[in-house]
Amino acid sequence: MHKEIHEQPRAVADTLEGRLAGDRVLEQAFGPQAMNIFNQTQQVQIIASGTSYHAGLVAKHWFEYVGVPCEVEVGSEYRYRRHAPRGGTLLVTISQSGETADTLAALVEAQRQGIVGSLGGCNTPESSLVRESDLSFMTHSGPEIGVASTKTFTAAMTGLMMLALVLSRRHGFDAGFEAHVVKQLRSLPSALEKVLEIEDEIAQMAKAFGNKANALFLARGAHYPIALEGALKLKELSYIHAEGYPAAEMKHGPISLIDDEMPVVALMPRDDLYEKMLSNVNEVKARGGTVIAVATEGNEDIKKLVDEVIYVPEVSSLINPVLMAVPMQLLAYHIALWRGCDIDQPRNLAKSVTVE
Ligand code: G6P
Repeated sequence: MHKEIHEQPRAVADTLEGRLAGDRVLEQAFGPQAMNIFNQTQQVQIIASGTSYHAGLVAKHWFEYVGVPCEVEVGSEYRYRRHAPRGGTLLVTISQSGETADTLAALVEAQRQGIVGSLGGCNTPESSLVRESDLSFMTHSGPEIGVASTKTFTAAMTGLMMLALVLSRRHGFDAGFEAHVVKQLRSLPSALEKVLEIEDEIAQMAKAFGNKANALFLARGAHYPIALEGALKLKELSYIHAEGYPAAEMKHGPISLIDDEMPVVALMPRDDLYEKMLSNVNEVKARGGTVIAVATEGNEDIKKLVDEVIYVPEVSSLINPVLMAVPMQLLAYHIALWRGCDIDQPRNLAKSVTVE
């Protein structure tokens, strides 16, 4: 897993490679029928499980930003409920393995409902998911061996951002917008390299976390799914109970749990929601909580309020969630290492869940 965390700049660069022409995303990257299907697409339904589901939750923010309505659901729920008909749906499945049973079954169910097409975002070219989908987008992460997904998470988000861009053209967004985001995508591998450089600091912080029984991850907007992913990684690897929560919802429950035994990780980039996050962090501090902030480089003020700060470089707020995924992985990895857990093969978990 450690190797795979460090492969992320390369995995993202390889996923972008050959899919961009100047400052545009090449539509053909999604398959020969892409243009026809995208022209009919009025909304997106994303289906996935686990970490891939979290990538979908981030992408929902991107699709809706460019004017494309988007729903995200885990396959196990989608497959067993009634659906109200919605025209012009592009079904997007996301799966590292392409063999997750519930995701495959949900794809079949969606095809039965009537969709304009299906697109599989996948890391395994010869998988069932790719075979059964009209279009595919392959992440070029290379094989992922660690049970907990890392490099395929950031690469999947990269692919989903490219999909949002090709759909944005059909929803009134001009070439200037696409060029701006493509530039940000091209800068992602080097920004990821920079985040990886802070590993030693994160390893130090992990020691204070190691003997705790619970943890809370707070964020807002497109960073909320990254908080969910941070909590998932910690649970998977270290067996510490953790929850990801939309920061403001803390007042509707978890605030009652806050004391000095409950570390709180707050994702608080400098964006439109920063002041809101700040007030949530103040609420935690006022109740004696320990806060690790994940903040934007240059934000020195935050040091006065919280106990520890993990800095990530400043990038466009649109792609920042991809960067903030990496400290989540490193934190979980080092906490699990400190606790002596079997990181690559956590108990009771499988790399691919091919049965119900
Ligand atoms: C298992 C793995 C997770 C993964 C999930 C979905 O639970 O342990 O790491 O995120 O399956 O797998 P998929 O291959 O569909 O992305």
